[in-house]
Amino acid sequence: MERKNLVIVGGGSTYTLGIIMSLIEEKENFPLQNLTFYDTDADRQEKIAKATEILLSEHYPELESFSYTTDKAAAFADIDAAFVQIRTGGLAMRELDEQIPLQHGVVGQETCGAGGMAYGLRSIKDMIDLVNDIRYYSRDAWILNYTNPAAIVGLALKREFPDDLRILNICDMPIAIMKSYADLLEKDVWELVPEYFGLNHFGWFSKLLDKAGNDLTDEIKDKIINGDFLPTDKEIANDESWIQTFRQARQMLIDFPEFLPNTYLQYYLYPDDLAKKESPDNTRARQVINGREKRVHEHCDQIIQQGTAKDIDVEADIHGVYMIRAAASLLFNLKETFVVMVENQGVISNLPADALVEVPALLTNHGPKAFSVGEIPVFYKGLIENQHAYERLVVEAYYENSYNKLLQALTLNRTIVSAPKAKAILDDLIEANKDYWPALK
Ligand code: NAD
Ligand code: G6P
Ligand code: MN
Repeated sequence: MERKNLVIVGGGSTYTLGIIMSLIEEKENFPLQNLTFYDTDADRQEKIAKATEILLSEHYPELESFSYTTDKAAAFADIDAAFVQIRTGGLAMRELDEQIPLQHGVVGQETCGAGGMAYGLRSIKDMIDLVNDIRYYSRDAWILNYTNPAAIVGLALKREFPDDLRILNICDMPIAIMKSYADLLEKDVWELVPEYFGLNHFGWFSKLLDKAGNDLTDEIKDKIINGDFLPTDKEIANDESWIQTFRQARQMLIDFPEFLPNTYLQYYLYPDDLAKKESPDNTRARQVINGREKRVHEHCDQIIQQGTAKDIDVEADIHGVYMIRAAASLLFNLKETFVVMVENQGVISNLPADALVEVPALLTNHGPKAFSVGEIPVFYKGLIENQHAYERLVVEAYYENSYNKLLQALTLNRTIVSAPKAKAILDDLIEANKDYWPALK
């Protein structure tokens, strides 16, 4: 198998170490020649990179080179694939995205509702710049983007680069949920074949089969309804917030038993409860700063101090393995099925052609080939159309510098609904994001 060159954009991310362990675990499926990290924050990246150097020397001696840089030319020349995981404004701005809506009594979340809109308006410009830069140096590289809010970023990239067929927007939530289904059934997650429809962080599993075609859906539903539903991937299994979130999926299934919900639907179906549960003094961003970020940085410090990663508890995770296997399927034309984002174009026949839908697709060297979903029932169609309209308005507002479209977007969003509330939140977000957002008129 030909060895490939990969750049990780956002090398300083809290996910990088898990990706490195996953690259090591998956080296037979996705063998690397050169690996590069690129980040705009040299110090943040260096800590992760120094630990990575040691991990790779111990577990990936056949790798020809590993380097880390803040120079785009050095990072993007001669690459086959880029994993893009940036966070414009960092976790500090994420905290404001969550706090401001919560102060107005509505959901404050990284990707959902007003927080997601604020984050989207920050991410779009950096993502467009990055795609332009990657294309300048490596015209044919595959770009796997999971920078959030992936739904809004993905729509903006489609608008900016309509003919670029080598950008894939992808999210790990469906596979993380499938990991829990697989554990309920005592099966391997890669044995499950999903049928799924919706938008990113806004979709449902309509069926789960095994590779022999046996339908496992009812068994999964029964186990969830009559038992419990918990995160099982190691990265999130012990995280109290994710435990609560997965538990809420059980309630969603009891209330709407037709399909198995993506966990993020809790913010749209139970917005009042969710807003009440969270506090501006203990945002999810704060929990991540004191949790995942702290843990990853401590692991790096230990590895660097000891000069070895032996006895340090770093492991591959479903997030990393998913991105790597998806990339391998694209680069090696494996035609394996992954739930990814694609332009609808009739895949879900009663939704707009230009919606960015999340559905199962075969990943080929010509890009994703989505399976047809057909018509979806009216409840889901209504919910999705509303959410799609919100997403479109955010992207249009970005291009048109439109205050009014942002107000429309937030008023449409199920986490807000009230126009005066939408206006008050928007005005606070404008003030908080004045260094990042386009100037609005
Ligand atoms: P993080 O802040 O720890 O890491 C992001 C890194 O990107 C930082 O090191 C930062 O310096 C760097 N960065 C910021 N702007 C940059 C730019 N313009 N160019 C290059 N580097 C830049 O954040 P995190 O929590 O590790 O998450 C990273 C991103 O991945 C976020 O957008 C997050 O939402 C996303 N994510 C998505 C999924 C998914 O399933 N779609 C899953 C996990 C994480
Ligand atoms: C899931 C989602 C991502 C999200 C991540 C982290 O993996 O698919 O889009 O960024 O969770 O959420 P957290 O709140 O733990 O930072
Ligand atoms: Mn996601």
